[in-house]
Amino acid sequence: MNKRIIIAIDGYSACGKSTLAQQLAKYLHYIYIDSGAIYRAVTLYFLQNAVSYHTIGAVSDALQHISVEFRANENTGNADTWLNGKNVEKRIREIDIAEKVSEIAAIPEVRVFVEKCQRNMSRHKGIVMDGRDIGTVVFPQAELKLFMTADMDTRVQRRYTEMKLKKENVSLEEVRRNIEERDYLDTHRTMSPLRQAADAIVIDNTHLTKEEQLDYALDLAKKVIASPLIRQMPDDTHSKKD
Ligand code: DC
Repeated sequence: MNKRIIIAIDGYSACGKSTLAQQLAKYLHYIYIDSGAIYRAVTLYFLQNAVSYHTIGAVSDALQHISVEFRANENTGNADTWLNGKNVEKRIREIDIAEKVSEIAAIPEVRVFVEKCQRNMSRHKGIVMDGRDIGTVVFPQAELKLFMTADMDTRVQRRYTEMKLKKENVSLEEVRRNIEERDYLDTHRTMSPLRQAADAIVIDNTHLTKEEQLDYALDLAKKVIASPLIRQMPDDTHSKKD
C-alpha cells in the first residue's frame, strides 16, 4: 500500500506557501487545504454582515451561519473557496480582507471554528495543509513539517505582482504595510501564534524558483513516505478527533 502522510506547511504571509502546497498536492495526488482561505472567508462574512467582532456573543452567533467549502475549479485545476454556497475565491484575496484577516484570526472562537472545519476537511491522510499553526497546533503529528520564509523585499514584490495581475488597485507600499502588519499580528496573538515547529524543516525560497522549491520539498516528502519508521494506520485516518 502506498503510504499517505500529512504535510504541514507554515510560514509568514506571502512566502509562497500555497504555491508549494498546491504543487505538492497535485504531484502526490493529495488533498490541498488552504487554511488561510477559511480565515479569509470568515473575515468576508464578518465584513459583509457588519458583525461586531469585538463582542464574543456576536462572533459566536455569526459563526453558526458560516459554512466554508473548497470546490474544484475545472478551469484553473485548483480548488476555489465557497462561502455559504457562493464562490468567493477572488473576493477573499482582495486587500480589504487582507487588512482585517489577522485581527479576526486572533479571536479564540474563530480559531476553534476554523480548526473544526480543518479537521472535518481532513478526515483521511494524504493532505497538504498550509497556514500559520498547522505543524504546531492543528497537526502536531504531521509526518513532514515545512516552515517557509523569504526576505521581505522579495515577498512584497511577489505579492504586489500577483495582485496587479488580478487588476487589484493597490500600491507597493500598501502591500508592504499589510505584510508587515500581518507578520506582527500572526506572531504576537495569544492563541496559536505563528511559530516554527521544533521538527520543521526551513525552506528559504528567496533565491529559489518554483521548480527548485518543488524538487526540494518533493524529495523530502518521498524520503518520509519511503521511511520504514512511517507506518500506515489500518483505516488510513489520523488520530485527532473533534
Ligand atoms: O495564508 P493567508 O495569507 O491566506 O492567511 C490569511 C490570514 O489568516 C493570515 O494573515 C493569518 C490567518 N491564518 C491563521 O491565523 N492561521 C492559519 N493556519 C492560516 C491563516
